[in-house]
Amino acid sequence: MKKTIFITGGAGFIGSHVIRLFVNKYPNYKIVNIDKLTYAGNLENLKDIEKASNYIFEKADIVDKKVIDELFAKYKPDGIIHLAAESHVDRSITNPTEFIYTNIVGTVNLLNAAREIWAENIQDKRFYHISTDEVYGSLGDNGLFTEKTAYDPKSPYSAAKASSDHLVRAYNHTFKLPVVISNCSNNYGPNHFPEKLIPLAINNIKNMKPIPIYGKGENVRDWLYVIDHAKAIDAIYHNGRDGETYNIGGNNEWTNINLIKHLCKVMDKKLNRTPGASELLITFVKDRAGHDLRYAIDSTKLMTELGWKPSLQFEEGLEKTVDWYLANEDWLNNVVSGDYQKYYRDMYECK
Ligand code: NAD
Ligand code: TYD
Repeated sequence: MKKTIFITGGAGFIGSHVIRLFVNKYPNYKIVNIDKLTYAGNLENLKDIEKASNYIFEKADIVDKKVIDELFAKYKPDGIIHLAAESHVDRSITNPTEFIYTNIVGTVNLLNAAREIWAENIQDKRFYHISTDEVYGSLGDNGLFTEKTAYDPKSPYSAAKASSDHLVRAYNHTFKLPVVISNCSNNYGPNHFPEKLIPLAINNIKNMKPIPIYGKGENVRDWLYVIDHAKAIDAIYHNGRDGETYNIGGNNEWTNINLIKHLCKVMDKKLNRTPGASELLITFVKDRAGHDLRYAIDSTKLMTELGWKPSLQFEEGLEKTVDWYLANEDWLNNVVSGDYQKYYRDMYECK
């Protein structure tokens, strides 16, 4: 029997990798991609599977309750994997309101629609909410985020994601909605929009433009290859326990400055530049307001319960990522034209 799964935000960075994995791996699932196509959504990310017989795209805004209710009535999904969100911390600092609408109101619209459609029968249904480690706040030099770490979000982005996580858990507790949540560390890989650190740096290095490093570059992030995140989502969607939370991380901490120095070395080699040439582009700029110092994830629960582990070492994943960007110049040039130029000017040149 065919199952219908809604994947929201499927035209974005992580969502497109999840869609590809599910469309190819599960021919018996009908995968419906629900995406508003904001600046971050790009159907080019899905070119290779857009004609697959088990894939459908619906352009819709999750904030629009009427449209969402209609889509639920039309397809009667068995499962929802919810990734649609405003996802960039810097944008949440300049314009927090959009984050409240999409990340909180949009999530509630999906929860209500699922509750209604599954009122008669919740057997084998699942609402899977994709979240971030940023809900836990910021770590000092030691320690890791576990599933029991108290929420302490510090940016409008993470506060909106934390709020949506609480609502998902509340619907599980109050209405017995079958939910599962995961909180993942920073992803990197192909199709990453170049407002985030790694693709922005790749694009700037390629074009010999300054690489902006906030503050002293001492902030630490735990990086995971995006396809490993997609595989974790597959494992959790199918085998995660109802009502549970799973942390997903790469066990791979880098200070921003060390990461960028390593990336510069990789790019020097790929672009046949004199060793050290790209590093000269590093430029320290004003720090992000309220910049979280360190994120690091303990994924023991996911690894022991579901047997997941990251498949790639960071050095290998980063090289694959650089290769992808260099081989996909058209993709990169398309997304950095138009509105991106204004975003970049406002964000970096006014500092
Ligand atoms: P992204 O910004 O690349 O993509 C977001 C997608 O959601 C886009 O396709 C966009 O068009 C769509 N979208 C935005 N608002 C919408 C709306 N109102 N209605 C319908 N669609 C809408 O984001 P991403 O990096 O792929 O992140 C996906 C999810 O994973 C988010 O929920 C994010 O919080 C979470 N996450 C991201 C990371 C990361 O490192 N990128 C890490 C952990 C968790
Ligand atoms: P980012 O990719 O925006 O992810 P997040 O804020 O969700 O962790 O940023 C990763 C780290 O890199 C973060 O510490 C902020 C820093 N950063 C820079 O130093 N320069 C930049 O131009 C950007 C976009 C980020």
